This record gives sequence, structure tokens and C-alpha cells, in this order.
Amino acid sequence: MKYIFIALLLIFTGIIQAQTPKELPIIPKPVSVKYNTGVCTLTPGITIWYTDPSLKTTADFVSKMLAVPGKGKLRTAFAEKAPSGKGIILALDGSIPQEEGYRLVSANNIVISGKTAKGVFYGVQTLYQLISANKTTAAVAIPRVVIDDYPRFPWRGMHLDVSRHFFDKEFIKKYIDLLALHKMNTFHWHLVDDQGWRIEIKKYPRLTEVGAWRVDHEDLPWNNRPAQKPGEKATYGGFYTQDDIKEIVAYAADRFITIVPEIEMPAHATCAVAAYPYLSCKQQPLTVPSGGFWPITDIYCAGNDSVFLFLQDVLTEVMALFPGKYIHVGGDEATKTNWETCPKCQARMKAENLKDVGELQNYFISRIDKFLTSKGRTLIGWDEILEGGLAENATVMSWRGISGGIHAARMRHDVVMTPASHCYFDYYQSKDKEIEPPAFGGLIDFKTVYSYEPVPAELTPEEAHHILGAQGNMWSEFLTTKSHTEYMALPRLTALSEVVWTPANLKNEASFLSRLNNLYNIYSSLGYNYHIPAPGGLIDTMIFINTASIDLKNPFPFGKILYTLDGSAPNLKSKVYTTPQKIASQTTVKAMLALDNGKTSWVKQGVFVLKTPDAPAEVSAPVNGLHFNYYEGAVNSVNQIASLPLVKSGNTTKIAIPEGFTSDVMAFTFDGWIKVPETGVYTFKLISDDGSQLLINSKIVINHDGPHGPEPREGQVALQKGLHKLQVKYFEAGGGETVQLYIRGENMPEKEVSPEMLFIEK
Ligand code: ACM
Ligand code: ZN
Repeated sequence: MKYIFIALLLIFTGIIQAQTPKELPIIPKPVSVKYNTGVCTLTPGITIWYTDPSLKTTADFVSKMLAVPGKGKLRTAFAEKAPSGKGIILALDGSIPQEEGYRLVSANNIVISGKTAKGVFYGVQTLYQLISANKTTAAVAIPRVVIDDYPRFPWRGMHLDVSRHFFDKEFIKKYIDLLALHKMNTFHWHLVDDQGWRIEIKKYPRLTEVGAWRVDHEDLPWNNRPAQKPGEKATYGGFYTQDDIKEIVAYAADRFITIVPEIEMPAHATCAVAAYPYLSCKQQPLTVPSGGFWPITDIYCAGNDSVFLFLQDVLTEVMALFPGKYIHVGGDEATKTNWETCPKCQARMKAENLKDVGELQNYFISRIDKFLTSKGRTLIGWDEILEGGLAENATVMSWRGISGGIHAARMRHDVVMTPASHCYFDYYQSKDKEIEPPAFGGLIDFKTVYSYEPVPAELTPEEAHHILGAQGNMWSEFLTTKSHTEYMALPRLTALSEVVWTPANLKNEASFLSRLNNLYNIYSSLGYNYHIPAPGGLIDTMIFINTASIDLKNPFPFGKILYTLDGSAPNLKSKVYTTPQKIASQTTVKAMLALDNGKTSWVKQGVFVLKTPDAPAEVSAPVNGLHFNYYEGAVNSVNQIASLPLVKSGNTTKIAIPEGFTSDVMAFTFDGWIKVPETGVYTFKLISDDGSQLLINSKIVINHDGPHGPEPREGQVALQKGLHKLQVKYFEAGGGETVQLYIRGENMPEKEVSPEMLFIEK
């Protein structure tokens, strides 16, 4: 018996080892790690040797990074041949094939070598994460390993909008540090937008005297801020002097990060027009807007040569400050109505034989493209620059999905992928919009970011070569503080770093989750704020009939769930959740996730409500079908649908926009009965773009009202077997449109509510 037990134990141990291979808690995951036995111990007295003068900055960096509190920085020293003894040795090694590649060997010493200083710097970031995971108060002992590592993509970017909200120089450096920690190499600095010009241009001082300041309406919602009134002072804003910019560019260069400055044109430039009204078609004075109203029609005049002289002057100063190859010129969301009526723009179209304002935008961007190309730089712009033809040397940043990127790559233009579906870090990162700080409408959690594959499957290998990489965009309409901005970046930037660095076949979500704990600890130690998802398993209201089970889910293989059942807010001393728990009466559950470092998620609340199932309806002669009413016009709420003219009524088969209805502003109500196969609790899921509402037996089960993208929302109801009155109200307020209804029950896997389940009276 005993021997069998031991044998089983060995087998089990074997299985466990096979299932959970040793893995270093490093993000992005390195390409290759070989393990040797034993550990490499680092003690406070060690020296950091650098064997090439180009590595001095990186050596200083390591020295600061590994500084022992109270004992100061570690010693750095140059030596062509590093001594054997304890130390960290930084070296160049021409045999490493990849430009940004490195090799890290930990044995008696730690040797980090790279083909270039950049590779060495990335090896140092890996070492930093390794040390963080392995330090105790007494010493650091890291595993003996050989790591060979290099990035998948040459463009590993993060963007920051400093126009909608201004962030000071110190924060920009902290943001750059965050990029460096994740081996990102590109910082896209969105320096100009309607609401603020943020870069000093010596030749045009009013750009920052006037364009950098707006009336302070920070107390009002972004989309509801009045224009500056006569006599009102513009006090919100700020800008970077050219000295600030030089300092930041040098700071980034020390961390091997290239800054891509963005100077928006021909639109998103109200601040410039406010400073110099002659730049617009109408040439009328206006003020810098304090928030967003849309569309903004004042854009640069494409028919006025003085505008191009101005832009060339601005770009000349910009190029003198930013040594990188790429200059971003925006190009997005240009409302061109003024161009349609402006005599100068019309004259330009005639002279240049341009058939519409789309071609005029192409003329505009192409003219700037030629200028930048003549200076040895490359123009990059948002995918709208494809409209009306693509400028000859332009690189495209694909944000409205991936089709712009595919189109450009097929035209043999380089592309950076940054689709709003995966790369917009100003969107919410959880469904709990009530408890999250304010964000843009959509939902992009870090798992969605992690799932992103930057190379579209449609491309041939040759076309795919034009995908330079991907980038996360941080628009700041809703980001009023530094801490909120960090919260929006982390851990989505963490996920993106693996998307752009690690080979696609090595990506694995479970592995990523297990490695995230170390990064969370690093963020805490460096003073960054970050998002922690709340425990899963709770929705606002959970209906039950007899008993229910509280079944909470920790999204991570680390940390713990703390919860209460008495309505009080959980704290670090609350009960730790371990296993599902049965309840038989109404119960309010409040739960949060606590990391090992003590930082906690938001509190998620769910109320379990005991209900008697609704009795079925008596319907004489039911036949399959669903009735709909169609209304035309613009509304912002399902409650306004009744005020619209009823245009058509008819029958359909399921909850969906019936064929043939294509208006961009319309509404529907759907009425009928739904048949459920057994008595029980049913969970409905309504996906709609824009707002919708589900009523069962005339009670609201899901309220998904207000304008929004195609997001899901769930609600529950207890029903007896049989027919129940169903109504869905839905409106479409512009852009994409959809409405779909799903159902699941205790014994029914989730499915779309199908025509066989829906009835009307004959
Ligand atoms: C963008 O989001 N307008 C590029
Ligand atoms: Zn014009």
C-alpha cells in the first residue's frame, strides 16, 4: 500500500511538473529561457562593469535601479575586459543576430550582452523584473538561466494625449519610464488637438500664449462645456518649452525610446486657429474650446499658401527638437464643410484638378509629405489619410478597425496597428462602469488587449512585412489626473507589451496572468496606480427561486477575494472567500480582490433576490412570430421613442433590425411572447448599439439605455414554464447599429432567442 502511494505521488509530481513548467515572472515573455541548476546571489557590494563606453548610461541606469535603500547606488566601472568576481557585466556582442536582441546569463556573475546598447538595456529590464521577483530583505538570489530574447515588432508604441488634459514634464518622464520597463520603444506624443497647443514654437508665440489656454470648466462633463465668454479668463492649460522638450527627448533616448511628435492637421487644430485666425477658411476669431462638442468645422484652409508656410515653419522647429524618423501629422476626423464653400479652397481644387474635398485632403497631406520627405523624415498619419489617395511616402496608423491598415499594407505602405477595438486605453476596462472612474464609452479589458494579433490574417507574408507593430492610445478627455492615467495604462500596457514583443506562438493568457503578480508589485514599488479587476461571479441583481450559490471567481492565480454578506464594505480584515456557499434568503454580497501586496480592487456588489416565478400568460391561438413598430428620427433614450412618428408596423422572427431598415436615426419596439421550457431563473443578455431595454411581463429586466457601442448587458427573471410577455425597445442614434437578445437557463446553455421561442396571437 505504502509503495503504491509513493509511486502515485511520483506520478502526480511528474504530471504537475509537466503542466506547470518553470517560468520566469517576466513581461513581456522572453523568446527563450534555458535553466541551469542553482542560484546566482547578488549582494549589495557588487560592481556594474561596462565594457564599451556606449553602455555607460545603461550601467548608470542599473546602478540607480538596483540602489539599496540607505546604502546608495551600486558602483559602476569601465573595463575592456570585465574581471571575474561578483558583478553585473554589460557588454556588446556582434554575434547576437537581432538589432534589439540581448542575452542574459546568470551564473557566478550576471552578463548581459546585446548586439547594440539598446539590446543591453532590454536585458537590464529583464534583470530588474527578475530581481524584483526574487528579493528578500537579506539578499537577491535569482535562478541560473540563459535568456535569449528579441522583439517581434520594431514599433512598440504608447501614445499620450496632452492636449485634452495637460500633464507636466515630470509625469511625461514617469510615463516614459513605464514604457521602458516594458521594452516599448516608441512614445507617440499627441501635442496638438482642438483643446490645447502644447509645444513652444518660437516663430509663432501666440500658439502657446493663446492656444495653450482655455477657460477652466473642469467641473463640468467634457461634452457639456460652454464656450469662452467675453471677459472670461483662460486659465486651464500649459505647454512644454523647447528646453523641456529637449530634456524629455534626451530622457527618452537614454531609455532607447523614440518620441514621435504629433502636430494635428488639417483638423483638430482649433487652438491654432484661436491663436492665428488667418489659418482657417473663415478667418474669424474664436476661442480654445474647453471640452468636446462635435463636429468642429474650423480647420486649416487648404487653399491658402500662408497656411502651408505656417505649417512648414512649425514642422521645421519640431524636426529640430525631435530627431526621430517619424513626424505624425494627424489627419483624422476632418470635417471639411468649410472647404466646400471657401473660395480659396474651391480655387485650389480647380487649379489642382481635384474632384472633391477628399482629394483636397490628399493634396494637403501630400504637400506636407513632400516637405517632410525633403528633410529626410517620414510622415505618419491616422488612417483617414487614405481617403482621396495616400501620400507617396506616408505610413498609416490604423485606428478605425484594421481595414485601413490592410489597405495601406496592400499598397506597400508601412502601417502601425492601433484599432479602437483593442488599443484604445481611454475606454472602460471593466463592465462595472458605475464603480470605475469615468472613461470613454467602450469596454477593452486587458485580456482583450492580450488577445490582439497585429498582423491581419488577410495579408500575404510580403504585405505583412509592412506591419511595423502596434500601439496603445491614451486619449485624455476623461483623464484629469496622473494617477487616473496610470490606472488606464495598467495592466493594458502590460498586455500590449507582450503582444508586440513576444512571438505569437509563445503567448498564453494563463501564463501571462501568473506573471502579472510580479509586475503589479513593481508598479506598487515604483508608485504607479493600476487597475485590479473585481472578483467575477456577481451581477447587480441575481434572482433565485429556492436556494442560490454564491460562487465568486478570482481572475488571477494570486491574491484573494475578501467579502461580506451584511451589506458592509469589505476591508483587508474581511472574510476570505474559499468555496461556493449556499443561501436561502435575500443576501447582499460585497466582494473585492486583494493582491499579495495589499492593494485592492473596487468593491463589486451583487444582490441575491428570492422570487416567486411569474405565472405564464394565457394566449389564445399563439403562432410563431414577433410584432414590430418602426419609428424614424433621432432620440437618445428608449423613453423618447414614443415621441417619434410611427412609420411602419409588421411582423418579424427575432430580435434584430428587420431587413431594409437602414436609417442612421431610427427606433423599434418588438412585442410578443417568449416560451420557456421549464420553471426556473432565466438570464437574458441584450447586445445593442445604441440603447435598448428588455421588459418581461411588463417589468424592466435589462435597462441598456443611452447611446453606446455594441455592448452586452445582462438581467435575470424567474419564470414558470410557458409563455411570457416580452418587449424590447431599441434605438439607433448614428454610426454602427445592432440589437440581439440571448437567453440561458439552469439547464439551457446560452443561445440567441430563436424564432421557435417567440409567439404572437394568430
Ligand atoms: C482618433 O481616435 N481620432 C485617431
Ligand atoms: Zn479654405
